[in-house]
Amino acid sequence: MEGHGDGKAVSNGIPPPSFQLPYPDSPEVITANVLKLTELAKDSRKQFLIKNLLVHLHQFINETSLTTEEWMDAIQFLTRVGQKCTDIRQEFILLSDVLGASALVDAINNPPVQGGTESSVLGPFFTEDAPDVENGDSIASEGKGDYMYVEGRVLSTDGTPISNAVIETWETDADGFYDTQYATREKPDCRGRVRSDKDGWFGYRAVVPVAYPIPGDGPVGELLLGIGRHNMRPNHLHMMIEAPGFRKLTTAWYPEGDGFLESDAVFGVKKSLVVKLEDVNDEAEARKRGFPRGSSFKLLKRDIILVPQKQSDETFRKNAEAAAKNAAA
Ligand code: BEZ
Ligand code: FE
Repeated sequence: MEGHGDGKAVSNGIPPPSFQLPYPDSPEVITANVLKLTELAKDSRKQFLIKNLLVHLHQFINETSLTTEEWMDAIQFLTRVGQKCTDIRQEFILLSDVLGASALVDAINNPPVQGGTESSVLGPFFTEDAPDVENGDSIASEGKGDYMYVEGRVLSTDGTPISNAVIETWETDADGFYDTQYATREKPDCRGRVRSDKDGWFGYRAVVPVAYPIPGDGPVGELLLGIGRHNMRPNHLHMMIEAPGFRKLTTAWYPEGDGFLESDAVFGVKKSLVVKLEDVNDEAEARKRGFPRGSSFKLLKRDIILVPQKQSDETFRKNAEAAAKNAAA
């Protein structure tokens, strides 16, 4: 263990600062000293981030006159969040999701650009093992839910079709579970990887997704119960699209009519991502798409508009400059 062994306990090697600090005898001086010490950070971005974090943390403690019990409760809560994490369960990301932090970071890093499809939260249910699926094939095994066909084109913001874009897609079955939530999972289901064809078209059979609760059996679940919030996500179909030269897009389509659209537990729904599922009751159409004879199905038809990387970087940079100016004003 650090500090133990043959020799004497040693410091981390950084000497006391060259500047003088007053003794931290009052709340004001504690805050001032902590902020002053951030000047020692060599990396300017790190210094900027930690200083801002400390300003807001100290402000929060001061403004709320936080009690010792409340601070200990917070520490114990965060401890439980850490203890709940495993290789396949990330309770900290879930916490970030329900606090709206994931959605906010995502919104800032994927600013809307000239008609580009907007982003949505990734969530914890993406896996690397989705099978490659040919256009027109199914991502779901029979019996997993009501039939849905998903189709559209992948286009650039100037309308040019993008061929060979890789589209990862995943969704719940009709019971509201991802395949990874079944202890008996033997292979991926309700997920797949399709590629757009030479004209940008893609299409695949899927099932109609349903609303489902985010994991509620841990400290994040307790938190939501404690503050009177539900833990539901409205029904949605996830997509992650990659094509060289374009900003990678993580998004989801949200079929309209779901009672949780406006109060999504993780703030992932944007108006432009709400879609109308068309009812198709035409046997010929169903058969053309590979559904069994006599089937009706829902059609989710939406193009995906990718933003050229350069255009996305430029928008991010401009927004960051504006935010910094705003903060300084
Ligand atoms: C999801 O949509 O899969 C999801 C997103 C955030 C938290 C939990 C689930
Ligand atoms: Fe999801």
